[in-house]
Amino acid sequence: MTRVFSGVKPTGHLTLGNYLGAMRQWAGVDQHRADALFCIVDLHALTVEHDPARVRRLSRQAATLLLASELDPELCTVFVQSHVDEHARLSYLLECVATDGEMRRMIQYKEKAARERGRGGSVRLSLLTYPVLMAADILAYGTDEVPVGDDQAQHVELARDLAVRFNQRYGHTFVVPRATLPPVSARVMNLQEPTSKMGKSDDSGPGIVYLLDEPEVVRKKVMRAVTDSGTEVVYDRESRPGVANLLEILAACSGGDPERLCDGYASYGALKKDVAQAVVEALRPVQARHRELCADPAYVEGVLRDGAEKARGMARPTVDAAYRAIGLLPPVSEPESGPAAGAGSGAAPGAAR
Ligand code: TYM
Repeated sequence: MTRVFSGVKPTGHLTLGNYLGAMRQWAGVDQHRADALFCIVDLHALTVEHDPARVRRLSRQAATLLLASELDPELCTVFVQSHVDEHARLSYLLECVATDGEMRRMIQYKEKAARERGRGGSVRLSLLTYPVLMAADILAYGTDEVPVGDDQAQHVELARDLAVRFNQRYGHTFVVPRATLPPVSARVMNLQEPTSKMGKSDDSGPGIVYLLDEPEVVRKKVMRAVTDSGTEVVYDRESRPGVANLLEILAACSGGDPERLCDGYASYGALKKDVAQAVVEALRPVQARHRELCADPAYVEGVLRDGAEKARGMARPTVDAAYRAIGLLPPVSEPESGPAAGAGSGAAPGAAR
């Protein structure tokens, strides 16, 4: 069965971009057709300046929203990254396979590092090595497919490169994964700046629709979306990015093809009204389920506990195999095959020396 792994980082409130670019696909398609794991990747949230209490809060909220988006723990595994040590264990090995040049070429690193420096802050080393930890997340589970939005494609490509390189140097250990992108809305843009991605860690609230925004707030944000000069509704990402973004959101929420949908509109105002309604309808069931789940935090905790246990069991053999393949001595307490090993195992410390 195909193994699928993906994750979401608790650095801000989850957005319509996260939902349309990734989560909806996970719940609607991936969990039904594959052996799928979905992870709240909290270690990644420590790569930029963070407030510990906020990261904890956002991690809980992300878990609740994943379940509210209809991820079913009977069908898939939902867990928190820091509850499974194998991610960090494998990350170090992959750091010994990756190069610093590769890290510095990552687009997200360049953008985020520039932003941190611009704010007068320093850049954490973990921001540079972030894609290696992400590769560890993926490779630890023998993942075949990684359903992500377009902004993560370069990171998945790096995970592929590291898997191939490791396998070539140390023997076949990792499955080589590939990214899968949604058919539309692989890159939902900021409503106020339609040439930039709608990102949860960005500051500009009015251009970002959050999953927990009230319907009236959603309507206001969509109605105030920046559109392009001209009045004709046409689908052209290059010259009309604002309108193209609205058409893609509409297509993602209510079906159809953005190129055809534009034929039905004579004005930007009419298009915005329908987009606002479609987004409100898409978010309604998620918000209702989120309210129910918030009333039952013990359920969410139970899902995360069971998820972590299951995930540990899945990751351990692959990460142990990587430790051996790269040349590390197995711990003495670990039984080895062969009669001599049988005699040694279980002996008191020092007895074998
Ligand atoms: P993150 O938390 O930024 O985003 C989670 C998922 O949402 C997608 N996404 C979008 N898709 C379309 N339009 C947007 N505006 C938009 N914004 C976000 C992202 O592409 C992603 O699929 N590094 C990852 C988290 C991660 C991960 C992993 C993912 C860590 N380890 C292993 C997959 C596999 C990130 O920061 O996602």
